[in-house]
Amino acid sequence: MQRLGPFSPGSQVDADGFASRERPDTGAPHLEICMITTPDGATSLDGRSGPLGGTADQQMLRAWRRACDIVLVGAGTARAEKYGPPSREGLRIAVVTRSCGLDWSSPLFASGRGLVVTSIDAPRVPVESVRAGTGEVDLRAAVAMLGARVVHVEGGPALNASLLEADLVDAVNLTFSPRLGGAHTTDAIATAFAGPRRFVLVDSARDGDFVFARYERAR
Ligand SMILES: NC(=O)c1ccc[n+]([C@@H]2O[C@H](COP(=O)([O-])OP(=O)(O)OC[C@H]3O[C@@H](n4cnc5c(N)ncnc54)[C@H](OP(=O)(O)O)[C@@H]3O)[C@@H](O)[C@H]2O)c1
Repeated sequence: MQRLGPFSPGSQVDADGFASRERPDTGAPHLEICMITTPDGATSLDGRSGPLGGTADQQMLRAWRRACDIVLVGAGTARAEKYGPPSREGLRIAVVTRSCGLDWSSPLFASGRGLVVTSIDAPRVPVESVRAGTGEVDLRAAVAMLGARVVHVEGGPALNASLLEADLVDAVNLTFSPRLGGAHTTDAIATAFAGPRRFVLVDSARDGDFVFARYERAR
């Protein structure tokens, strides 16, 4: 990949180099949203994000997964994208849900690598669960209970909005797809939340027609 800036524009960097970051030790988990979007704002085509991506984007996603301690994902995304166990040994995927209406026989949960993040009063589940909050999931407490230093969030827009609302997001890793969504542009990387939040661009790179941008919370 070729770095675009703001630092070292023109230099070469691979996906792992791009994903390996110094993260300030704040004593709290470092939470990073990762999403792919088209320049006109679509984040899925026919209900899946896969058609927006390609080899470069998949490589980058694997690098972000190597750089984290746990993956956090909304139940809507886990269902739509048919989440399975991650290829990285030992990595676990925590699925955020209110309903606990998930397929426990799916490869993710059958593998033992999936767990659930939900509220204290949500239905019982046959897999490990992390519970915080009554009625609503207390995401700040639940994320802390995961015991991870770097939490890699793979969406979707509803979970992202809740995390932004709770002011838990330290970084946004955005991939720009060289496609236009057209009629699909009612999607967004986050549904409405009480923003705005300000982030600064700390790095960007291109691989072919894909552009990767990393924004960190303005401090
Ligand atoms: N472009 C990308 O990078 C990308 C990434 C991810 C997803 N997507 C796309 O986004 C679409 C799915 O969107 P979505 O907004 O429905 O996804 P989502 O945020 O993954 O799922 C929403 C569901 O997650 C649970 N959830 C979210 N926030 C919660 C909270 N604060 N507390 C408790 N549970 C919470 C709820 O599950 P329950 O219903 O079980 O209660 C909710 O119905 C799919 O088409 C997918 O392909 C795109």
